[in-house]
Amino acid sequence: MRSFLASGLFFSLASAAAIKRDGGHYNYGHHGKGLNIQVGPRPYYLVDDMDEGPLKKKLESCSEGPFKTSDFVFSHRGAPLQFPEHTREGLMAGRREGAGVLECDVAFTKDKKLVCRHAQCDLHTTTNILNVTELASKCTTPFKPSADGKPAEAKCCTSDITMDEFKTLCGKMDGFNPNATTVTEYMDGTPYFRTDLYSTCGTLQTHDEYIDLVNSWGLKFTPELKTPEVEMPFDGYTQEQYAQDMIDAYKKRNISADRVFAQSFLPDDIFYWIKNEPAFGKQAVYLDERVDTPEGYDNATASIPELAEKGVKILAPAFFALTKVDESGEIVPSEYAIAAKKAGLDIVTWSFERSGWLNKGGDYYYQYVAPVINNDGDMYNVLDVLVHKVGIRAIFSDWPATVTYFASCFNL
Ligand SMILES: *[C@@H]1O[C@H](CO)[C@@H](O)[C@H](O)[C@H]1NC(C)=O
Ligand SMILES: *[C@@H]1O[C@H](CO)[C@@H](O)[C@H](O)[C@H]1NC(C)=O
Ligand SMILES: *[C@@H]1O[C@H](CO)[C@@H](O)[C@H](O)[C@H]1NC(C)=O
Ligand SMILES: *[C@@H]1O[C@H](CO)[C@@H](O)[C@H](O)[C@H]1NC(C)=O
Repeated sequence: MRSFLASGLFFSLASAAAIKRDGGHYNYGHHGKGLNIQVGPRPYYLVDDMDEGPLKKKLESCSEGPFKTSDFVFSHRGAPLQFPEHTREGLMAGRREGAGVLECDVAFTKDKKLVCRHAQCDLHTTTNILNVTELASKCTTPFKPSADGKPAEAKCCTSDITMDEFKTLCGKMDGFNPNATTVTEYMDGTPYFRTDLYSTCGTLQTHDEYIDLVNSWGLKFTPELKTPEVEMPFDGYTQEQYAQDMIDAYKKRNISADRVFAQSFLPDDIFYWIKNEPAFGKQAVYLDERVDTPEGYDNATASIPELAEKGVKILAPAFFALTKVDESGEIVPSEYAIAAKKAGLDIVTWSFERSGWLNKGGDYYYQYVAPVINNDGDMYNVLDVLVHKVGIRAIFSDWPATVTYFASCFNL
């Protein structure tokens, strides 16, 4: 199969045949071959914006590529800097930009089918549901206009509707206007640094559709079991069954566990997989949000050896928690990062390209390095520390191309 595929001319025919013949098995071992990876103008804009120095020189030296697909690059919700999140169009953009691993955040519907959504209850900000009369009325909280200084309200959950109903919705850019007095105003809330250019009815994905799409490209998966926002068990559906159903979707297709990075914020989900699905548990990703408060950060850091002992192999805090600024003003690895490495754990982190302009020291993601951040190009300085000093295994990005440029330059 390898030599056959080596011919670019036959690539698309051959890959279709390969997938059929192997019953969904992916074993080329060199995915992305034949695919013309496109990073677009943004990485060049960022490199140009960098302060002078060796990193800028090195990145400039890579301007003409080649750029290649890399498992270092995790597509975060597709490519939501510009495309509606968790849509087919966003996944296609992520693949084109060189992501080797693509994400589906997993939530369940009323009929307990799995679909891709960042939260169980975000349909009111990520889809057109409020504008679809038959479905809007099924929302947990139907739209209430802003009045008397109170913000507009709405809450629509995947568990409010069936999978078939979900599939009739359109994906839009995540956002809402709290001052809205009409649904149309409410839906018009895209952040300034994103765009509505591709918000023309994005194609929502069930978890199964996502798997088949990514599998057809020979790429890897990172499904995240989203923490339910309804009480569990939900109509008899337990958390364990939910965690199992997500894994079963890959097993049913004979997709090898080493192509699947299952994630969760709930340690019990990770322990469930380690115990019941060890092949998947072995590379499950524990999303660690304890770092969000100073006390939680210290507790999290202290608990790393115990997590390692319990079989956790990959930790994933937000990237701010992995660095800090030392007395000389240099960005260096944080205590958390050092503890994770010491315990022999891998680190995957999130999420690049969610921050907009960095001219004022950035946001949540740059909180520990704010004093040394004052322009967009500085984001590559942070990435460089994450790669070369912290030693991360991969990073999620809302615009995979920005990371692909760097990854190809350093052969990651
Ligand atoms: C998966 O593999 C098993 C055992 O090798 C085989 O019997 C089954 O048909 C395969 N299923 C699919 C969907 O390829
Ligand atoms: C909503 O109204 C408040 C008060 O007038 C204003 O400060 C805020 O910017 C408005 N938000 C949006 C998204 O329009
Ligand atoms: C709401 O639906 C109407 C009728 O289908 C359509 O004309 C309008 O563009 C939609 N508005 C939004 C914000 O999607
Ligand atoms: C940190 O750990 C201490 C001691 O176990 C505990 O009392 C405290 O609630 C924890 N704080 C956070 C924010 O996790």
